Amino acid sequence: MRVFAISDLHVDYAANARWVESLSTSQYLDDILIVAGDVSNSLQQLEWALKTIAARFKKVLFVPGNHDLWVVNDDRTTSLAKFAQVCTVVEKIGVSMRRFCHNGLSIVPLLGWYDYSFGQPSQELLDSWMDYRACRWPSYLEAPDVAAHFEALNDVTEVARNEHVITFSHFLPRIDVMPEYIPEQKRVMYPVLGAARLDKQVRKLKSKMHVYGHSHVNRRVHIDGVTYVNNAFGYPHEIRIASKHLLCIYPM
Ligand SMILES: [Fe+2]
Ligand SMILES: [Fe+2]
Repeated sequence: MRVFAISDLHVDYAANARWVESLSTSQYLDDILIVAGDVSNSLQQLEWALKTIAARFKKVLFVPGNHDLWVVNDDRTTSLAKFAQVCTVVEKIGVSMRRFCHNGLSIVPLLGWYDYSFGQPSQELLDSWMDYRACRWPSYLEAPDVAAHFEALNDVTEVARNEHVITFSHFLPRIDVMPEYIPEQKRVMYPVLGAARLDKQVRKLKSKMHVYGHSHVNRRVHIDGVTYVNNAFGYPHEIRIASKHLLCIYPM
């Protein structure tokens, strides 16, 4: 049994959907796939993509990303209601958002959002970041409250000492996973990349490896005993920062 990781499939793009469809129907039947969020803005497309993937793997583990909670085309609903719908769809097609344990290996999903622990958003970001228009939260919830809401749903029960733990989230658990080469003008996005409290959960779980998505910048970096991995598929034009293949993360 191998464990593969991918995130940010964004199957709203036809080229990305074709890639999902082209995945082998025989090569991965004994394997696990972590899908770390941002499958689609549309619930129907999300269902199609996860169902297509689930037929190709022994087990698919998933957490939603910000795009999966967009409600831009439906002004009658909220992103909390969309989260509930995503959970129902995921459950129905046999994909899991719960901890997976098998033969000394534990894979733990961590829900989250951004909480501005990586910086306060500038006016430029408030004006340009699509989530501020495409997500709809109850009026009493600001982004940091949304992050706290999702983090509180996470199962952070510690595992047995000899378990090998892999954690995964859509959002970044720390900002120093971003490479040095990111230009200053792109760093305006850092406040909406993740939440430092997620890393507390990663470490409480004694994770050896944490898979994250969202930044679309492929990366493997070792910090204080944890290997952080980003294997985002990304948008079709992102060929330099995303490698566009499944990454085997266990055994390494
Ligand atoms: Fe994404
Ligand atoms: Fe994202």
